[in-house]
Amino acid sequence: MIRSRIHGTGRALPARILTNDELARTVDTSDEWIRERTGIRERRILDAGLAASDLAAEAARNACEAAGWDPATLDCIIVATVTPDSPLPSTAVRVQQKLGVGAGCAAFDLTAACAGFVYGLSIADSFIRTRQFKRVCVVGVEILSRIVDWRDRNTCVLFGDGAGAVALGQGDVARGRDDRGLHSTHIHADPTGIDHLHIPAGGSAKPASADTVAGGEHFVRMNGRQVYAGAVRNISAACEEALRANELTAADIDHVVAHQANVRILEGVAERCGLSLDKFYLNLERFGNTSSASVPIALDEAARAGRFKEGDRLLLCAMGAGFAYGSAYLRW
Ligand code: ACO
Repeated sequence: MIRSRIHGTGRALPARILTNDELARTVDTSDEWIRERTGIRERRILDAGLAASDLAAEAARNACEAAGWDPATLDCIIVATVTPDSPLPSTAVRVQQKLGVGAGCAAFDLTAACAGFVYGLSIADSFIRTRQFKRVCVVGVEILSRIVDWRDRNTCVLFGDGAGAVALGQGDVARGRDDRGLHSTHIHADPTGIDHLHIPAGGSAKPASADTVAGGEHFVRMNGRQVYAGAVRNISAACEEALRANELTAADIDHVVAHQANVRILEGVAERCGLSLDKFYLNLERFGNTSSASVPIALDEAARAGRFKEGDRLLLCAMGAGFAYGSAYLRW
């Protein structure tokens, strides 16, 4: 059996840092409130004039370089995002162009909000295991600063911009018993979350108009408490599913790379699943919630910092709007 394996990781983050203290000068909030409720201290903001495909291409290039792959050899580019450059064409095709990848490579976007990267990994894994493609780049990218209402303290303190990517290819087929690579992915959605995290206008149900713009209906709206409860419930369920499917216990896991929304959500997941919080890689303090980008950014940071040893057992998990959620279990 072919197993897919992460051959390289990459990330791209804007240089501009927006601290809690800076935010507190424009909305009624404080560094103390944000840190206590979320664990976030600062986030990155992309300069005007740049878009999702710019960060996504940089992250993808870095992942390919780490894998030792010429981007021209990619068979498929998957971009998970809720903040595409524009509705048409896909951001993935723009990334393809920016990477200098010629015609023929498959390229498409997918939307599963903060679970987008885990969804993308699951799809890429299927492509590789069924031998449809050999080299797939999965990117998570978000420019959330462009879809939050900077006057709404309930949401604007939470989010940031960034991109992360992995180069997913075949495992070492010659070493038939090689255990490294993806062992399982589990993706799900829970429609009880539909109204708790959404953007009311700008799509086919309510096209953008002067009225929707005046009402701020193209910005993110959120019921924080319901999202919090849904995240703890669904991320825990996805983690437990991955453990069961692989006949593991929480103690067998070496590292958890979870969606970086809020440290309190992750504390809740750790408690429910019996996972030690020490095993969670945390960087939300510096980047806030970057939705689809958060898992691959964390994965790349941890990998480049040398946290993972060959054969380590990693659990990836996320939940976002929908609620879409999922997990992946892999040996590094
Ligand atoms: N600064 C100061 N006060 C604030 C702020 C702020 N930035 N935001 C809200 N408040 C106020 C509220 O208005 C409320 O005031 P009131 O009591 O006078 O009405 C008060 O703080 C308490 O609000 P709560 O909603 O009870 O605060 P809570 O402890 O639930 O924390 C939070 C809010 C942090 C949003 C929490 O619900 C949460 O983490 N939810 C998950 C949201 C999330 O992570 N979303 C990301 C997208 S989905 C995902 O990635 C999983």
